Parts: sequence; structure tokens; C-alpha cells
Amino acid sequence: MKSGLALHAKSVVVTGGASNIGRAIALAFAAEGAWVTIFDIDEAQTATTVFDAANLPGTIVGHACDMCDIEAVERGVANVVAAQSGIDVLVNNMGWSRPAWFADIPIEDIRKAVDRNLYSVIYATRAVLPTMAGAGGGSIVSVASDAAFGELRSAVYGAAKGGVVSFMKNIALEYGRKGVRCNVVAPGLVLPPSAKDVGENSLWAVGGDMVIDDKGRGDIVRSIPLRRLTTPADVAGSVLYLASDRLSAQVTGQVISVSGGSQMP
Ligand SMILES: NC(=O)c1ccc[n+]([C@@H]2O[C@H](COP(=O)([O-])OP(=O)(O)OC[C@H]3O[C@@H](n4cnc5c(N)ncnc54)[C@H](O)[C@@H]3O)[C@@H](O)[C@H]2O)c1
Repeated sequence: MKSGLALHAKSVVVTGGASNIGRAIALAFAAEGAWVTIFDIDEAQTATTVFDAANLPGTIVGHACDMCDIEAVERGVANVVAAQSGIDVLVNNMGWSRPAWFADIPIEDIRKAVDRNLYSVIYATRAVLPTMAGAGGGSIVSVASDAAFGELRSAVYGAAKGGVVSFMKNIALEYGRKGVRCNVVAPGLVLPPSAKDVGENSLWAVGGDMVIDDKGRGDIVRSIPLRRLTTPADVAGSVLYLASDRLSAQVTGQVISVSGGSQMP
């Protein structure tokens, strides 16, 4: 088998690629020589990630895009197709959660969770499929969550992520004959390595929706078979594997939990 991931000069779109997990994914593709376009609403944090890729073999450019606005997503995809002559890899990374007991989730948060975690994935996938199928193939990797398989205080978020898993399997079935592979990476808890890794629209921004104190963090680590938290780079590694036709050409419709063994789907 040849070495390397064969991602050099591939056209890659990473949604929500400015912060935390998406940022690590975008930088990892650029390190492999790929041409990455980040779709994100946070232009300042996108600029930080673009800057940090300056010395990598590939490139990162930003495209301001609200992933919940189907027309904006379609325009963004058309721009990338025109600029890069196609899209080889789509990483549906953008998502959102605000942990709460089901009875306490307000209706606007229910809608937000489904909009941001499921509709956004359907919109982007729908927009790229014609160009991928027309080009003879491509790889779509969606970032779901361990919550898809059951997690306390995650009923609607988990349902939306479970929807992503089901959607990817169904598209894998329909589009396999066109050479399009669809897979899912389901992370456990992933804290940003530093303040620089998150922008103001990140869940992890100061005053944002996710707060985990030291005790909560310790409890989580003790519950993980591999006894450490998952890093953004851990998630990026599995995404690159699934994106690489050299490493995973015969893998489609699958889910990889990147959680130190917390979930074994
Ligand atoms: N971090 C975790 O513990 C964890 C665990 C399991 C799954 N996940 C999933 O991984 C993915 C990334 O998580 P994260 O922690 O890196 O998220 P994050 O909140 O740190 O980053 C999300 C990014 O998406 C952007 N964004 C927000 N709303 C947007 C919109 N409407 N349109 C375009 N961009 C938008 C933000 O600006 C930010 O750059 C999500 O799908 C999340 O559900 C995260």
C-alpha cells in the first residue's frame, strides 16, 4: 500500500471550521496539502485559523456562511465549485448544544438544536451531492456526537445527531453507486486546547452555552476507558482517515466513536 493520505490538492469544505474541532480538522487537512474552505459565521475567528495555516503545505480560505440558511449554503458551495473546480470532501462539523433536562428545554432551543445539528447537514449535503456525483465520487464526513446513542440532558441534541447518523447511512446507500462515501465521526467531550481555538460563536466562548467545572471534568475522565478527554486532533485524525480514498475507499455508512471508548456503537 502507498503511504500518505493522498489528500494533497483536494478541495475540502469544513463547516464551522473556525473554532475548536472544526479548526483542528481544517488545519489537519491543510497540513496534508489540501485546499480548505471554511464555512462559518465568525469571520474574525475564521481569519485566525486562516492565518495559522500560512506555513502549511495546503491553504485555508474562509467563506462567511450561516449553515442554517439554505440559500447561503447553496451559494457558498457554488462559489467553491467555481473556484476549486469541484468539492472532493465535505466535513459537516458545525453543531450546537445546550445541555438541559428535556422538560426544561424551551421550544426555541428545540428548534435551534434541530436546525443547527440536522438541517444544516442536510442543506450542505444536498448542495454538494450533484457536483460530487457528477465528478464520479467524493467523501462526506459528518461530526455527530456520542449523544446520538444516549447521554443525559441531551434528548433533542442527541435526536438531531441520531438523525445525522441515519441521514448519512441513507445517503451512503443511495449514492454509493456514484462513488460518494458518507460516514460519521461521533466525538465524546472535546474541550478547546486554548482560548485561541474558539471564537465568540463557539459553545466554549466565555459566557457560552457549555460550562464544565473541574469536578465534572474529573468525573468524565474517570468514566472514559482510555482515561483522558478526547482532543480536537483526535477527532481530526478519524475525519482525515474517512476522507482519504487511499485509506478508507471501501468504508461507507459507518460511525466511528472518538471518545476513548465511552461509547461503542
Ligand atoms: N466539543 C464537544 O465536546 C463535542 C462533543 C461531541 C460532538 N461535538 C460536535 O462537534 C462539532 C464541533 O463542536 P465544537 O465544540 O468544535 O463547536 P464550537 O461551538 O466550538 O464551534 C462551532 C463553530 O461553528 C460556528 N457556527 C456556529 N453557528 C454557525 C452557523 N449557523 N453557521 C456557520 N457556522 C456556525 C462557530 O462560529 C464556531 O466556529 C459540533 O457538531 C458538535 O455538536 C462536539
